[in-house]
Amino acid sequence: LVAGVDTSTQSCKIVVRDADTGALVRSGSAKHPDGTEIDPRHWWDAFQEAAEKAGGLADVAAVAVGGQQHGMVALDAEGRVIRPALLWNDTRSAEAAEQLITELGDGDREAGAQAWADAVGSVLVASLTVTKLRWLRDAEPENAARVAAVALPHDWLSWRIAGYGPEGESPLGPQLDKLFTDKSDASGTGYYDAEADGGAGAYRPDLLRMALGRDDVVLPRVVAPSEAGATAHPSVAGADVEGGALVGPGAGDNAGASLGLGMEPGDIAISIGTSGVVSAVAPKRTADGSGAINGFADATGNALMLAVTLNAARVLDAARSVLGADFDELASLALAAPAGSDGLVLVPYLEGERTPNRPDATGTLHGLRLKNQTREHIARAYIEGMLCGLADGLDALRALDVPIERVMLIGGAAQSPAVQQIAPQIFGLPISIPEPGEYVADGAARQAAWVLAAATAGSDVDAPQWSTTIAKVLEPDPQPVIREQYAAVRDLV
Ligand code: XUL
Repeated sequence: LVAGVDTSTQSCKIVVRDADTGALVRSGSAKHPDGTEIDPRHWWDAFQEAAEKAGGLADVAAVAVGGQQHGMVALDAEGRVIRPALLWNDTRSAEAAEQLITELGDGDREAGAQAWADAVGSVLVASLTVTKLRWLRDAEPENAARVAAVALPHDWLSWRIAGYGPEGESPLGPQLDKLFTDKSDASGTGYYDAEADGGAGAYRPDLLRMALGRDDVVLPRVVAPSEAGATAHPSVAGADVEGGALVGPGAGDNAGASLGLGMEPGDIAISIGTSGVVSAVAPKRTADGSGAINGFADATGNALMLAVTLNAARVLDAARSVLGADFDELASLALAAPAGSDGLVLVPYLEGERTPNRPDATGTLHGLRLKNQTREHIARAYIEGMLCGLADGLDALRALDVPIERVMLIGGAAQSPAVQQIAPQIFGLPISIPEPGEYVADGAARQAAWVLAAATAGSDVDAPQWSTTIAKVLEPDPQPVIREQYAAVRDLV
């Protein structure tokens, strides 16, 4: 048996699967507080609760963790978290991002944006870890001075699973040099170049120094996709397994989902979760100086090209609360209004926006008339606006000539009948809906099985072939009016 963990912005989910067939054996999940900053100890508590609900992990031979990307977990020399982790959705470092861009361009913003894209694959936005370190240096210099190591959410949890942590809270104590990570999550820090040294990948201490003012901090060792980073402490996992449980390198959640879906070059996933993500696997990254597309690594050795919006599933939550409707009622209301909502347009930047990079933007409901002030029109306008934001991301991938052969729609909102009817009108492409699943946790489990296989057969062994079931394929039904009127309002606000 192997276990896959998804430590996300809101909860921890664990799946236990058969290492050979991938069959689901047990699962458990637990919520923790969310927001944009959080004490990582909540992740540990949620992990333990989820593991208990999944029947314990004593019988698993390998475990791996997929996690929300970019969060800054700053540790002191005793392995304690210095301040609550600043997460991917925290925009307070937007100004720091701009400073760093201009500095790398020697005063020229455009040159700086391209230089960051060339150096690390992405133009900086507030989500990336490096900007949070610059913010820390300037806003909390006493905290910045105490930083002895910087980890990401998944690295920190893997380290705790291996038994490390502060004295009194962990069996093995604060061994910072035992921190490890993988290329996919390292590639989202802004101080790691996944394609350096002919593809081997390397940290960029110069960029870290630029942000924090120094580079004498421990960064997690980057281990290969099928390599174990540690053995789990028997009090956490593997107590009943000879030799204990291996801990895989783990991955950023988007790379985890792509592994869970079995994505290959040509595949696109559109995920409607806390963040909206349009991702594509490609053999190599393209350095997009416009900043629309991040060039991260995936969890297998390819590149993962990504457009991320901050306004996805929560836009639908907002619509529900405005309308006092539940999930099903929101869908029926939206489907009762015509395509284009009779000119009512929502530009959904309710939480600021990242793609396009407008951290201080607010949402706009535009085009109110007497005839479209109905619950039906409002429901539809919210769903259309949210999907149009993602369609902009797909266009940005197209503009980089990323091959688009199959589009899969995932995330809780992908199950909404209204989303399923409206998405083919906006994207104008066939859209596959996989069976609902915990794709990040599943990808982590698949990686754990891979690590287990590589431990006996050698690191060249391929990832196990677990299949993903496509529940249905939606045929394209293009309704250009929706995107045309959206684009006109988006460019106004
Ligand atoms: C990716 C990103 C988000 C988080 C959400 O760049 O910021 O998708 O990983 O968990």
